[in-house]
Amino acid sequence: MFRKIAITTVSALAFSMGAAQAAGNGEVHDVAFSFEGPFGKYDQFQLQRGLQVFTEVCSGCHGLKQVPIRTLADPGGPQLPADQVRAYAASLDDVELPGGESRPREWTDKFPSRSGDGMGPDLSLMAKGRAGFSGPYGTGINQMFRGMGGPEYIVSILTGYTGEEIEEAGSIFYENHAFPGGKIAMSPPLSDEQVDYADGHPNSLHHMAEDVSAFLMWAAEPKMMARKQAGFVAVTFLVLLSVLLYLSNKKLWAGTKGKKFTA
Ligand code: HEC
Repeated sequence: MFRKIAITTVSALAFSMGAAQAAGNGEVHDVAFSFEGPFGKYDQFQLQRGLQVFTEVCSGCHGLKQVPIRTLADPGGPQLPADQVRAYAASLDDVELPGGESRPREWTDKFPSRSGDGMGPDLSLMAKGRAGFSGPYGTGINQMFRGMGGPEYIVSILTGYTGEEIEEAGSIFYENHAFPGGKIAMSPPLSDEQVDYADGHPNSLHHMAEDVSAFLMWAAEPKMMARKQAGFVAVTFLVLLSVLLYLSNKKLWAGTKGKKFTA
């Protein structure tokens, strides 16, 4: 029985690793994000910088239509003051109403969506959607300590351009070592010092790529910290329970077990 389970596990693992490699022929580099590991946390200021990069650069072509704007004020996230979040919401595109009307966006609304020519996919869940496939440590226990690979994938895309353009059937593609297939329709969106951070943080291409990817991980999984905490409490509880059960089991049987059976 045990052998069978062991063989199944090993072959399942080998198979999933093979699948991961086949799916992501791109090169994805590991990044040590603050939110990795069993006690990892989002860095509030990194999320704020990431929001700035998203707003100034990515939101031109990418929506974030599943993310409620008010969550920008939540603890554990960018945690902006409420009045700033309201002002931010008002600065975004109006909400279209049926009948061609529109109204200003409120902080209780979600981020705008994007569609049409040249627009990219919605990024609400991208950091989770691409996890595992292209992550450098996509399988096994490594995920717990080094993350799922989704934000690493986004960093690698943003920094993986070679500068070469490829024309194919009338469309331009950009050579990118991280993108599966090696060429992507998105022109390089970020370059060194493109965004000026209010806090004076370094703004090289790499810094900005990491900041916006951390922000997108938060957007896809805002409750990651609460989930880790709940997991930790559950594991501690189970360990304590096991110890108690073991001890009471010993105590219950102490009288019976030591005796020699005499018929
Ligand atoms: C000029 C428009 C434009 C801008 C600006 C832009 N993107 Fe894109 N993006 C696209 C398009 C188009 C695609 C689809 C590419 C494809 O499928 O070949 C894309 C695809 C992506 C993908 C998906 C890769 C995948 O696995 O499917 C990610 C991640 C991404 N963009 C992130 C970003 C981030 C982060 C920014 C801001 C720093 C950004 N993009 C800015 C147009 C844009």
